Amino acid sequence: MSGDDPYGLNLQMKPIRKAIIPAAGLGTRFLPATKSIPKEMLPIIDRPSILFNVEEAVRAGIEDIIIIAGRGKESIENFFDRSYELEDFLSKAGKTDLLERIKHVRNLANIISIRQKEALGLGHAVLTGRPVVGDEPFAVLLGDEIMIGKPGVTDTLSKSFAKTGLSSVAIMNVPKEDVVKYGIVAVEEDSDSDSFKILDVIEKPSVEKAPSTWALPGRYVFSASIFKELSRLSPGKNGEIQLTDAMVKLAKTEGLLGITFKDLRYDTGDKFGYVQANVELALSHPELGAKMRAYIKDLAGRL
Ligand code: G1P
Repeated sequence: MSGDDPYGLNLQMKPIRKAIIPAAGLGTRFLPATKSIPKEMLPIIDRPSILFNVEEAVRAGIEDIIIIAGRGKESIENFFDRSYELEDFLSKAGKTDLLERIKHVRNLANIISIRQKEALGLGHAVLTGRPVVGDEPFAVLLGDEIMIGKPGVTDTLSKSFAKTGLSSVAIMNVPKEDVVKYGIVAVEEDSDSDSFKILDVIEKPSVEKAPSTWALPGRYVFSASIFKELSRLSPGKNGEIQLTDAMVKLAKTEGLLGITFKDLRYDTGDKFGYVQANVELALSHPELGAKMRAYIKDLAGRL
């Protein structure tokens, strides 16, 4: 029992109940596979990548998941819905393990889908979720990244928000040449802490213009004020409404924290990261692990 909670009442409340997962992109990096399958449904072994994001949100206590979708993304909704025929088949066939796994998926969370009718950028995608989120703080998880942690980085951000009342976003150190791929933050350095005050944010700067090597890997918890900032923005980098531009405003008004994390991270929006996630997660997969380990050892000997 902690000193802050002498009666064990679990006073550490989790205020974040909603999460936005932008999923309207065309997935051009995975064409032709993504011509008729949303990239979010591409499997990491036997689980679509979006399931990892939804489970991460659920582990943070989130109940409502708002998918910002575009045309051709109906299979995401179907995936999280009940499939009567399949459940009936698995039940009659006595395949109880599989049936339980299927039920787990449909019972995870309330999945709410809303269409982004124009591809105007990540900031616009997040703003599209405003009518569902309303006036509450909320999380954003970018589907191109899979994070494996217990309970995970979204939970860490949610706890930071609960403790400080400040919007909190994940940050990670990247090699200097990679700053061009990310939103990069300038922070007030404090070496004793894993939480930094963010002073500025620059979307995909050149190596010369980057204020640091602290990058945004795509996990955020925002106060509802981010919507107000997003609604006032004009197009920024690449002619898009940039989430990072609204974060600059938030940093300068309410304040914004950058939080480091230790979760494993796979950039599954990239072909190499996608293959890496499949290989590494196969190594710890209950059915495949031993076989995969033997195979990799054998393969390494042949290279
Ligand atoms: C987006 C954001 C960027 C962030 C990145 C993480 O960029 O704009 O700030 O660092 O996601 O993956 P995108 O990769 O969608 O171009």
